[in-house]
Amino acid sequence: MGDVYFDNFVFSRYKHALVVTDPYIAELYGIAGDNVFLLPRGEQAKSFDNVAALCRWFLSKQLTPAGLVVAVGGGSVGDTVGFACSIFKRGIRLLHVPTTLIAMVDSAIGGKTAIDLDGVKNAVGSYFFNFDTLIDPDFLHTLDEEQLKSGAGEILKYRMLNKEIDNCVTNGENLQSVIAACVRFKQEICAEDPYCRGKRNALNFGHTIGHAMELALGLYHGCAVANGIYYETKLAASLGLCSKQYTSTWCGETEKSFSISPLTEKILDLTLQDKKNKEGSVAFALPTTFDLTYLPLDSLKELLLY
Ligand SMILES: NC(=O)c1ccc[n+]([C@@H]2O[C@H](COP(=O)([O-])OP(=O)(O)OC[C@H]3O[C@@H](n4cnc5c(N)ncnc54)[C@H](O)[C@@H]3O)[C@@H](O)[C@H]2O)c1
Ligand SMILES: [Zn+2]
Repeated sequence: MGDVYFDNFVFSRYKHALVVTDPYIAELYGIAGDNVFLLPRGEQAKSFDNVAALCRWFLSKQLTPAGLVVAVGGGSVGDTVGFACSIFKRGIRLLHVPTTLIAMVDSAIGGKTAIDLDGVKNAVGSYFFNFDTLIDPDFLHTLDEEQLKSGAGEILKYRMLNKEIDNCVTNGENLQSVIAACVRFKQEICAEDPYCRGKRNALNFGHTIGHAMELALGLYHGCAVANGIYYETKLAASLGLCSKQYTSTWCGETEKSFSISPLTEKILDLTLQDKKNKEGSVAFALPTTFDLTYLPLDSLKELLLY
């Protein structure tokens, strides 16, 4: 698993490397030059076409496994560049420089890469561990409120999984300490279960319904995850996996900070695409066990809609 460190990102230090970012970040932070490639902004970056364009650019720059690629951006840039680095010449060293809160606490940690295909989120991807992560919290100053809220959605997930992180937030510690606590926790879990065969599944809490809502409603990833957390906690309660007290505390906490959209049959139909699913049943990492629970779509609808 890669190292994670906090430092200022100084673009001029990376003249020897190939830097990939998006046009908005490039403009905001003065990232320009022959060694810079721009991906489209946001989720649009995560396509085979962009990975091909990136790999062609790597070829034109005669990149070899001795070189370094620096991905400066949110999860969309990180996921796309990570995937390209994992397949180009069978692996190129990568430095993740996350610029969104979500990327700092989540997507630039743990080595999952992915692109979307035919409307299916993260349909194609890899596990890739040949990377380090440089976190510069100064990037957070230019994020808008929705993006910060999106990061807070993943942090809410970590709070429910780890008491130390919850204490850090409730004690009002600064954002850098909260980020560091989330990173430590995710690093520990990923080191134990890098390929998501056991413990790491817990990090998918909120994501089965979250991904479906992200796709159906176009919500920011972390805001969709907060919605997923809300409904998956209710689901856990109806299966007797958590207490009434737990459910009302955490659903209340979620409603306080996020707007919760109504759940529909169409949204639940989309959970059939989840990668964790098995034999036609939809998989969930539910509180408080966080082992995977499998439910047929009909039972899911029964429990959550009617
Ligand atoms: N690989 C993983 O483990 C993992 C984990 C969580 C999320 N993800 C993926 O990450 C993606 C979401 O990432 P995201 O939420 O970081 O959004 P994003 O990368 O899609 O970026 C959203 C927008 O924020 C802008 N932006 C980025 N940094 C900025 C800054 N410092 N100031 C101002 N604007 C800035 C970008 O230009 C973009 O328009 C999703 O595709 C999700 O699936 C992956
Ligand atoms: Zn997530």
